[in-house]
Amino acid sequence: MAAGSVGIDAMAFHGPECFVDMADLATARGVDPAKFTKGLGQLEMAVATPCEDTVSLATVAGRKALSAFDIDPKEIGTLIVGTETGVDHSKPVAVYVHELLGLPNNCRTFETKHACYGAMAGLTSAIDWIVAGRAHGKKALIIASDIARYGAGTPGEPTQGAGAVAMVVSERPRLLEIDKEIFGDYTRQVMDFWRPLYSKYAFTDGHYSIDCYLDALTGAWHDAAAKAGSAERLAMSALDACFYHVPFVKMARKAHQRHWEVELGRAIPKDDEEYAMKVTDSYGVLVSPWLTLNAIVGNIYTGSLFLALIDYLRAAAPEREGRGVSMFSYGSGCGAAFCFGAVAEGAAAHAARLDPAAELDARRRLSVEEYEEILAACDKADTIDGEHLSPSQWQLRGDLFYIGTRNHIRQYYP
Ligand code: HMG
Repeated sequence: MAAGSVGIDAMAFHGPECFVDMADLATARGVDPAKFTKGLGQLEMAVATPCEDTVSLATVAGRKALSAFDIDPKEIGTLIVGTETGVDHSKPVAVYVHELLGLPNNCRTFETKHACYGAMAGLTSAIDWIVAGRAHGKKALIIASDIARYGAGTPGEPTQGAGAVAMVVSERPRLLEIDKEIFGDYTRQVMDFWRPLYSKYAFTDGHYSIDCYLDALTGAWHDAAAKAGSAERLAMSALDACFYHVPFVKMARKAHQRHWEVELGRAIPKDDEEYAMKVTDSYGVLVSPWLTLNAIVGNIYTGSLFLALIDYLRAAAPEREGRGVSMFSYGSGCGAAFCFGAVAEGAAAHAARLDPAAELDARRRLSVEEYEEILAACDKADTIDGEHLSPSQWQLRGDLFYIGTRNHIRQYYP
């Protein structure tokens, strides 16, 4: 990696307080549960109530990252919220978060949007800001926050989810150093997935979107290899983990196979058992151990890739320090990036600080009927006064709900 470090100094996840079990959902939809749990790899799915919006999820994640890693809000010089679940055509989610986190007025603050690639765009922008020497010792806070909705009974329904991942980027990263020179970029206008202005629900050409994702991975990897000057510098054999955008767990398996193929320089035929075995073994070591959070949270769009990174870092042991990782971000529409990093020296000492297990264990399991009531209530939420939304109606216990939507700003501190 190039001299002069930059990377992720702090991280935290925050998600909704309720979830649906995927076997329950499959049964209610008349589908074999194995299709959702094995075919897609999803076990549970986070469900945001009308009282949990992009702003409240982002704010709590940001607050956790700062407090767990002893970072004073005054140290933040840039705040970027990556989201495709905006609350306003004009006003960024980030400016509400800026106020709620008590960040300084001299903090540049904005929202980035490019489907699930939005937070990676924010992360690279923050790295550029630091590398350009404009941070003057300050840190950047990047928050990925989204609510994924396809609608009841659609093929996309089992790939919903919601949540936020906050990351602090600094010159002295305690968790992950990022190679600031090698970013493989890829952009192509495709209609694989979109959320038009009139709809909270996503439209998608699901199978085509998988092809677009894999083509983007190929394109971004080749760009990274060209910038690195040699494919060897990116070699998977030297990596300890490979992270991919995870719309559903099985997609990471498909991505890893494509990653192998681009390195190999050819497609692996279905009947090539030797290579199939190698890919499966490699997936079992480099990828699947770090997908346990994605499997119980679902697609959180901008944050999905980084949720896998949290899963890895919360298990960071001293022997992992210094080892290399790759990250592939894909945003429909489409934009993508491949980048590389290494676990920071001392990262293992911080593993417990970013573990969201306690929050996830405390979630409430919804029946499918309750989940459907919540979907209907979310549809109505923008057309009623916020005062009619009560966190207690959904048995929520947190301290910050329903901010920033419509003209009202509501905060609840029960
Ligand atoms: P589908 O068409 O209902 O499912 O929807 P399927 O028939 O393709 O089956 C899915 C898998 O389950 C298949 O495995 C089946 O064989 C298997 P595969 O062949 O792919 O390995 N299966 C079973 N396995 C075990 N037991 C069974 C069984 N039955 C079937 N009984 C689809 C799937 C992903 C298309 C749908 O959920 C969807 O449209 N999702 C939303 C779009 C999406 O997630 N796309 C991913 C790539 S694009 C992306 O990642 C960007 C995104 O995050 C948005 C953004 O950037 O903002 C989405």
